[in-house]
Amino acid sequence: MTGVLVTGGTGKTGGALVRLLRGNGVPLRVASRHPSADDPDAVRFDWEDPTTHPAALRGMDRIFLVPPVNSVDPILSVGPFLAEARRLGVRRVVLLGSAIVLPNAPSAVEMAARVRARPGGVVLRASGFMQNFLSPHPVGERILRHGEVHTAAGEGAVGWIDARDVAAAASALLADPGVEPDSQRDYLLTGPKALSYRDAAAIITARTGRKVRVVTVGTEEQAFAYRAAGMPSEFAAAVAAVEDGIRRGLHDQVSTAVLDLTGRPPRSFDAFVREHRIGLGGNGGFEH
Ligand SMILES: NC(=O)c1ccc[n+]([C@@H]2O[C@H](COP(=O)([O-])OP(=O)(O)OC[C@H]3O[C@@H](n4cnc5c(N)ncnc54)[C@H](OP(=O)(O)O)[C@@H]3O)[C@@H](O)[C@H]2O)c1
Repeated sequence: MTGVLVTGGTGKTGGALVRLLRGNGVPLRVASRHPSADDPDAVRFDWEDPTTHPAALRGMDRIFLVPPVNSVDPILSVGPFLAEARRLGVRRVVLLGSAIVLPNAPSAVEMAARVRARPGGVVLRASGFMQNFLSPHPVGERILRHGEVHTAAGEGAVGWIDARDVAAAASALLADPGVEPDSQRDYLLTGPKALSYRDAAAIITARTGRKVRVVTVGTEEQAFAYRAAGMPSEFAAAVAAVEDGIRRGLHDQVSTAVLDLTGRPPRSFDAFVREHRIGLGGNGGFEH
C-alpha cells in the first residue's frame, strides 16, 4: 500500500489537507495523539512517544510533516522520525515550515535543511496564518473577548495566509505519487497582500461591525501574555520576539506560490473575515 501520512492531521492545516486528499481518493492516515474511533484512517501518533512512529509510517510513501507545535527544539523528535521514514522507504516529505524564523530556535532551521537535503524533500515556508485571528489562538481570543489586538509589531506587515491554502499547496505536492516535485525545494506561501495588525483590525471592523482596537505593547509584555495563554516560556519569548522582526519589515512579503502550485489564487483576508464574522465577534448580520 502507498499513501500519505498526515501528521497534525486533526489540526487546521492537516485537517484541511485530509479533506482535500480524500476528495481526490488518495489513501491516507490521519495521525493524532487521540485517534478517532470513528475514522478507519486514524492512527495514534505522538511526537513525544517514538514507539508510535513506525506503525504510523509503515506502508506510507509520502508524509505531510507538521512538526511538534509550541517547541523551539523540534529536531529532537523530528530527526529520528525522518531517519525511520527513510529506513521504511518514504519517498516524499513535505514539511510545514514557517516563513517567520523564530529567533533563538536554530533547531527549526536545521530541521528544514534536513528535509530540503533529502530526495523528495520539500519545505513549505508558510507565512502567518489568518486563523491566528480566531480563538483559541491568543490573538483571536483577545479579539473575541476584548475587541483588542495587542502587538509589538507596530505598522509592520505580514503576508497572512489562510491555512487552507497551505493545505491546498501541500495537496498539489502530495496527492499524486507519480508527480515528482520540480527542482524547487522551498516554497514561500503567502496570501495575496501583506497587512499590518492595524490594517487587519480595520477590515474586521468594517466587515463585522465589531470595533477592534490595536494596542502597542513591548515584546516582554507580549511574551508574558503568551505565557499566560499557556505557551511554554521559551516558545512564548521567541514568538513575541518575532514581532520585532515584523515591525522592522522582515515579513512584509507576498509570493505567487499558492497560485503556481494549485492554479487558484490564495484567499484574501477580506474573504476570510466575511466567512468568520461570528468567530471574530461580529453578530453575523453586518457588512459594508
Ligand atoms: N500559526 C501560524 O501563523 C503559523 C505560520 C507558519 C507555520 N506554522 C506552523 O504550523 C504548525 C501548526 O499547524 P496547524 O496550525 O495546522 O496545527 P494546529 O491546528 O495547531 O493543530 C496542532 C496539530 O498538531 C497535533 N499535535 C499536537 N501535539 C502533538 C504531539 N505531541 N504529537 C503529535 N501530534 C501533535 C495535533 O493533533 P492531536 O491533538 O490530534 O494529537 C493537531 O493535529 C506549527 O508547526 C507552526 O510552526 C504556523
